[in-house]
Amino acid sequence: MKKLQIVLMFLGMTSVFHVGAIQAAEQKVTVYKTPTCGCCKKWVSHLEENGFEVETIDLRDLRMIKNMSGVKPEHASCHTAKVGDYIVEGHVPADDIKRLLKERPAVKGLVLPGMPAGSPGMESSHKVSYDVLTIDKEGKTAVFARH
Ligand code: CU
Ligand code: CU
Repeated sequence: MKKLQIVLMFLGMTSVFHVGAIQAAEQKVTVYKTPTCGCCKKWVSHLEENGFEVETIDLRDLRMIKNMSGVKPEHASCHTAKVGDYIVEGHVPADDIKRLLKERPAVKGLVLPGMPAGSPGMESSHKVSYDVLTIDKEGKTAVFARH
């Protein structure tokens, strides 16, 4: 895929072709990941099992996507997703995304930095507790959900 195509798609410029499908678009997640990422695929399955329609875009380098998302290195994970106008970074549970779409807070999106063991797609017998954070336009974070 061409760089410009990716940029336009990321910015939602292609969504003009899907006018009237707002409700459907709400449940659609576009996941930007690297081709070899296994935990990304597991997270995609988790979303699909929870009713989301998922499109995956494989890129060798996610830096451009992270930059456009405003995801700082300290908040980065293995994949970046877009749901409507929101950014979802990392292994965020589907229920948190549903709550985000229901409550519609004035934030850029949700981030789950790193890849905590026990988060969706990172199934493990050694679970750790983790916080999903909101990230605003200035890059400020606040706790959205504790797990
Ligand atoms: Cu991962
Ligand atoms: Cu991933």
